Amino acid sequence: MAPVRVSVVIASTRPTRIGHHVAAWVVEALDGLTAPDGRPVEVTVHDLREIALPFLDEPGQPADGNYTHDHTRRWSAAMSATDALVLVMPEYNRGYNAALKNAIDYLYAEWEGLPVGLVGYGWHGASYAKSALRQTLERVKMTVVDGPGLSFGQTLTQEGEVGADDAAQAALGAMLAELVAGARSAS
Ligand SMILES: Cc1cc2nc3c(=O)[nH]c(=O)nc-3n(C[C@H](O)[C@H](O)[C@H](O)COP(=O)(O)O)c2cc1C
Repeated sequence: MAPVRVSVVIASTRPTRIGHHVAAWVVEALDGLTAPDGRPVEVTVHDLREIALPFLDEPGQPADGNYTHDHTRRWSAAMSATDALVLVMPEYNRGYNAALKNAIDYLYAEWEGLPVGLVGYGWHGASYAKSALRQTLERVKMTVVDGPGLSFGQTLTQEGEVGADDAAQAALGAMLAELVAGARSAS
């Protein structure tokens, strides 16, 4: 039985980032999850710091899909092999981080119909960042499923320790269940 392939993207690329801690919390919640049709969930973490895409350097329009660089083809292959996506994203200056925008801008057809869950973190649960990101994701025809926003001083320390309360944990569980049920490969 083919698994449901869930990709978790760590959006922050800062050397002292905390995003990987938040991603670990998401991955832990995915452990043992199955789709409504019984298929297992297979999780892959994509770290934008490791992937290290340059600022968009393709000569052609992403919508044409004529990629000339290996880094673009690798990123395209990774997202084409994804049935549902989770973006683990910080809030920077009331928006989302530039590396995430760049990674989205690289591709086009790969995003269409892909369910995407948003896990934000910041001072106010990254609500501004999520709101800004939603417009971009809708433009590339992804299906957005909102998820938890972790807030410093409440459910997250500034060192990245997640202390999710019942509400945040429930929001994460509900988001993941909806994503897996609506995964691109779902029949
Ligand atoms: C450039 C920059 C801008 C920031 N702007 C905001 C902001 O507007 N709202 C907010 O809640 N936190 C803001 N923060 C705080 C970040 O949410 C916090 O540093 C968080 O740890 C960033 O995620 P990261 O460590 O994984 O990169 C900002 C941080 C940086 C580096």
